[in-house]
Amino acid sequence: MKNVKSEEVVEMGKDERIEYLISEGEGRRFLEVGLGPDPKLRRHRLIEKHGYSYIGLDFHDVCEMHQSALRKDGVKLDRHEFIGNDRSGSYLFSLVHLLNRARKSGKFDIIFFDGHHTLNVDAAPLMVCAMLLKDGGALLVDDYRWTLENARSNLEKNEFYDGVYNFDAYTESELNKPHIKIICEQILPEIHEFKIDSELSLPNWKVLWK
Ligand SMILES: C[S@@+](CC[C@H](N)C(=O)[O-])C[C@H]1O[C@@H](n2cnc3c(N)ncnc32)[C@H](O)[C@@H]1O
Repeated sequence: MKNVKSEEVVEMGKDERIEYLISEGEGRRFLEVGLGPDPKLRRHRLIEKHGYSYIGLDFHDVCEMHQSALRKDGVKLDRHEFIGNDRSGSYLFSLVHLLNRARKSGKFDIIFFDGHHTLNVDAAPLMVCAMLLKDGGALLVDDYRWTLENARSNLEKNEFYDGVYNFDAYTESELNKPHIKIICEQILPEIHEFKIDSELSLPNWKVLWK
């Protein structure tokens, strides 16, 4: 990591660290897998300011909600693209589509992966993300230590996640495992060597350099 003193980094939360990484470059390509209920206006303003192109993946309705919220807040969306999938599916098909397109349009400098957080849904998408990232690019992975069991009560009462998780599909042991950590530590290294940035990462949010 360049130009940031360790003391400053220690004070930064996840969103500020993402903003720091965005601010380090110009005209780069940023992919976000999983958009969430709240569009991050400051992040998108920086993306616009630094001439990035941005692609966001989520369910169709979440993509539409982000698009109209950002437009309403005055973010120019000419270098933004949102690719939605059906409620019954996942962003895997969208990622494979991007892999085909990457031959012409190039790979990504930064990929922020923050989707379903389960091995069932996210193993293949994270593998495709590893392929979509440029050499030297940063894969940002959220909810590294997340488990279905720990998230269960919040998810069950959150309308935004209604129908997104089927807790009955998992054994007790699977409910208690950190699926994203398993993918990053047991599957991704088989595809490519990534280096964890120990200064920029947080316990539950990792920066992996390709
Ligand atoms: C934790 S939020 C992402 C937060 C966001 N990256 C941010 O920085 O605020 C997870 C997102 O993943 C999406 N997601 C979960 N499962 C999905 C699936 N099967 N297909 C598409 N999107 C999915 C959810 O709709 C949700 O918007």
